[in-house]
Amino acid sequence: MGVRRKDHAASKIIKKMNILILGSGGREHALAWKLAQSPKTEQIYIAPGNAGTLLTGINVPIDPVDFESVKTFVIEKEVDMVIVGPEVPLVNGIRDFFSEDKILRDVAIIGPGKEGAQLEGSKDFAKAFMKKYKIPTAAYETFTTETLKAGEAFLDNIKAPYVLKADGLAAGKGVLILNDLEEAKAELRSMLVDAKFGKASAKVVIEEFLDGIELSVFVLTDGKDYVLLPEAKDYKRIGLGDTGLNTGGMGSISPVPFATGEFMGKVEERIIRPTIRGLQQDNIVYQGFIFFGLMKVGDDPYVIEYNCRMGDPEAESVIPRIKSDLLELFESMAKGNLSEAKPEVDERYATSVMLVSGGYPENYQKGKVIKGLNNLNNCIVYYAGASNDVENNLIKTSGGRVLAITSFGDTMEEALKNAYANVDQVDFEGKYYRKDLGFDLK
Ligand code: AMP
Ligand code: GLY
Repeated sequence: MGVRRKDHAASKIIKKMNILILGSGGREHALAWKLAQSPKTEQIYIAPGNAGTLLTGINVPIDPVDFESVKTFVIEKEVDMVIVGPEVPLVNGIRDFFSEDKILRDVAIIGPGKEGAQLEGSKDFAKAFMKKYKIPTAAYETFTTETLKAGEAFLDNIKAPYVLKADGLAAGKGVLILNDLEEAKAELRSMLVDAKFGKASAKVVIEEFLDGIELSVFVLTDGKDYVLLPEAKDYKRIGLGDTGLNTGGMGSISPVPFATGEFMGKVEERIIRPTIRGLQQDNIVYQGFIFFGLMKVGDDPYVIEYNCRMGDPEAESVIPRIKSDLLELFESMAKGNLSEAKPEVDERYATSVMLVSGGYPENYQKGKVIKGLNNLNNCIVYYAGASNDVENNLIKTSGGRVLAITSFGDTMEEALKNAYANVDQVDFEGKYYRKDLGFDLK
């Protein structure tokens, strides 16, 4: 009996994993923070990471698109799983690079292959996919230099506002929404003929304008099954009341009050399931996050865009709400066992306020000392553009988006109050943030 018990215990010894997270933003800090809580985690490496990821793992100075260097590191450190934060390494085919390599092919990769990543990497691909699988999205047509005249005629026949999208990745800048027809024609020409967004605008999608309210919905999928993660709303514009220039995101709120059970039922039935079925029918192997950027028009959801990764700054409110072991979920996904996974979610609101450098998203200064980080309580700080000045034992700004401060509350108002109370405790020269997160949800 004793022996059997011992055997039983031995079989329960957890195999601990070495994990490599690629990226350097608040999203990657949130992933590292969460994975560090798993009993299955041995060591977390982040490439290249930031001052925050350093609190939960080891930063390594590797560029996530330098696959050969990633390979050398994975072999040297016996990495078991690679989690790809941003889209560029996915669109460049990091998963395919691993699966085609004899030594690397057993390493679990969290993120789709090159083909699946086209859902984000090519707007034209994504729109054709949605059309094929009857997934609700704005009506559209795609144009190239050869069909510029037809594009202009298309604009003549639709109503303002005109939505022009560069087909390829353009660091979040490739979408133009214009009210004036002549301006829209001039921009179309500039995108196609003058390569305004380089190769990314060699094709341009022109689509119908959808009037509604946006939200971000996330799943983890193994290509057959999926688990729905908490949804979130992000605030993209720099100015109060959603005005001014687009940014990488000024904060996020999860859950989204208007994402009721009934609405989310429509999202699953009309959008999520047909997307996963479509990937299967097209023989596209997909293991990773799918991010559905949605517009609620009336009571119905439409897809604005797909992303092949987690959102940032949505991760900073979504990930802390996941109570289950995220590493276990990733493992199930890599093994194709997601049908058995049931993630537990914190019912409370999480709100995340982004502190940015003055001048962002245009010109801003770096290297400003961040003060007050020790004064915080009742919040989680996720670092984005913040780096360590080791010599002087300081943390300094190193990017436009600097810190995300996330707090919980039983109501959205309470969560926001807690987050803003902490925002006031941190300071750096030029600190700016949106004081009105949630204004459209009350
Ligand atoms: P995307 O890069 O596709 O997410 O587009 C950037 C932003 O442009 C979105 O977050 C929306 O706010 C807006 N947008 C994109 N497509 C449309 C559309 N068809 N109708 C209205 N707004 C849109
Ligand atoms: N928050 C939008 C994005 O991650 O693209």
